[in-house]
Amino acid sequence: MNVFLIAAISTDGFIAPSNGALLPSTAWTSGADKKFFTERTKQAGVIIMGSRTFETIGRPLPGRHTIVYSNDKTYEGVETTNKDPHLLLKDLEKRGYTEVAICGGASVYTMFLEAGLINTFYLTVEPVLFGQGVSLFSKAVSVNLSLQTITKLDNQSILIEYGIRH
Ligand SMILES: NC(=O)c1ccc[n+]([C@@H]2O[C@H](COP(=O)([O-])OP(=O)(O)OC[C@H]3O[C@@H](n4cnc5c(N)ncnc54)[C@H](OP(=O)(O)O)[C@@H]3O)[C@@H](O)[C@H]2O)c1
Repeated sequence: MNVFLIAAISTDGFIAPSNGALLPSTAWTSGADKKFFTERTKQAGVIIMGSRTFETIGRPLPGRHTIVYSNDKTYEGVETTNKDPHLLLKDLEKRGYTEVAICGGASVYTMFLEAGLINTFYLTVEPVLFGQGVSLFSKAVSVNLSLQTITKLDNQSILIEYGIRH
């Protein structure tokens, strides 16, 4: 199973401004990043996110099976789960999926990283500074990455792909 993390980050490394937790996570991201996100996640076929992130989007994204982590909520048109990430991925493998997109937020990125399940990172760096905000991960982590590709998505935004360096 190929498991990739996909996120847009500010140039100073945040996934959301500190005062913007309830804004759509895409309010400050570029059209080029949205296009990449749509194409790459449709290719994977299944997307996983936390309930807070889902609520900023407010609906299942078309063409992708959406799985939302929550302890007690249910939403129309999406599968909700509180499964251990290893068990969830085994289940998805049995259902025929070969790729999964981990779409945030910080708590879900952290849970899959700590479980050692992420092998690829797609980070779009957007030309904006927040000073303070929501970090990519919600706790201290220590992981070495290996740069794979850098793509200029448009005149302003850069997509960086990393693997894990073992
Ligand atoms: N820039 C980007 O690319 C990007 C992408 C995604 C999100 N974001 C931003 O990230 C922020 C949200 O991140 P976040 O860390 O606060 O929230 P989150 O990860 O989106 O959602 C957290 C919620 O997920 C559920 N959850 C997490 N782990 C669980 C587990 N093991 N079992 C059951 N439920 C679990 C819980 O839901 P319940 O409370 O329902 O139990 C928890 O409150 C927002 O500001 C959003 O805009 C940015």
